[in-house]
Amino acid sequence: MAKLEVLQGDITKLETDAIVNAAKESLLGGGGVDGAIHRAAGPGLLAECRTLGGCPPGDAVSTAGYTLPCKRVIHTVGPVWRGGNAGEPALLASCYRKSLLIAQKEGLESIAFPNISTGVYGYPKAPAAEIAVLTVKTCLPDLPGIKRIVFVCFDRENLDLYRNLLADSP
Ligand code: AR6
Repeated sequence: MAKLEVLQGDITKLETDAIVNAAKESLLGGGGVDGAIHRAAGPGLLAECRTLGGCPPGDAVSTAGYTLPCKRVIHTVGPVWRGGNAGEPALLASCYRKSLLIAQKEGLESIAFPNISTGVYGYPKAPAAEIAVLTVKTCLPDLPGIKRIVFVCFDRENLDLYRNLLADSP
């Protein structure tokens, strides 16, 4: 079983094989973690993203890492929070699942996730953290190539949520 870790900080500094970007459908960059990743990766990332033709919510695509310390960036598009009855939980779970499937397929052993959708897209942090941890734990038994998962929390509230969730269960 892969190791699950939580840390607080900037995901662009991580040397995991893959980092996940909370992107927008166009994949052409934005604010939040998306902006930070594009700034740290340099213009090559945007050039590659332009060739991809976008990505629908709940799906994921990968690119090179350019000047980032990771090997690959997996771009996933989280749901915009619309009150919770517009399929948001399933779409958010799909972001984590599809990102892990790409990592497995590409032979990436370590992967770092931001707290997808909990910034600009407004997903409430507590249920988003529960979905993230539950989905990853559910998928991992079928993905033996993945050895390490890091949940990177930018703010203290998410850090506490993830610490509690990972402490509660084996
Ligand atoms: N490292 C780790 N986490 C970060 C970083 C960082 N450098 N910067 C912010 N976060 P958001 P979303 C956290 O808004 O809600 C963009 O404009 C942040 O505190 O980045 O999925 C895209 O282009 C929050 O907990 O992503 C889309 O249009 C989490 O990352 C839209 O925002 C996600 O916040 C996507 O919105």
